[in-house]
Amino acid sequence: MTKRPILIHPDPRLRKLAAPVPDLSDDLRRLAHDMLETMYDAPGIGLAAPQVGANHRLIVLDCVKEKGATPRPLIMFNPAVVAVSDDKTTYEEGCLSIPDQFAEVTRPAAVSVRWIDQNGAEQSEDFDGLWATCVQHEIDHLDGKLFIDYLTPLKRQLITRKMQKLKRDMARV
Ligand code: NI
Repeated sequence: MTKRPILIHPDPRLRKLAAPVPDLSDDLRRLAHDMLETMYDAPGIGLAAPQVGANHRLIVLDCVKEKGATPRPLIMFNPAVVAVSDDKTTYEEGCLSIPDQFAEVTRPAAVSVRWIDQNGAEQSEDFDGLWATCVQHEIDHLDGKLFIDYLTPLKRQLITRKMQKLKRDMARV
């Protein structure tokens, strides 16, 4: 497995509609495992393929955060939210493409998700709590959407300017 560089907002590749995966391949499975390694290393609880510059509908996540608990890495090809709860929940979200910036986002508290696993089998599961927020955040990435899009234009601009400055500073090193 190889760690891949994570794109930082603003980047046009983070704003594209990702393409559905028609057939699984070893390359795509390798990409998924690279993404898991990249996510764990960051560390983060979710990562979407566009964040490593790959325009595929593929996300990985593992929201088990307790120390010593068994990890639960999930790889989802073509994930789709098929049902949402009326109940809403608010979490302070962050994003590996928007480092060190956090803001409260309100989303459905529970979601049903359908996806294709790395063996090509169709899976579905209901998620709640942090898992529900995380899976919605990652699927948003596949539609070119970032958590800052839920904030006011002013807050979004403020964060975007900070990221532009961060990228200039990183380019200088
Ligand atoms: Ni993100």
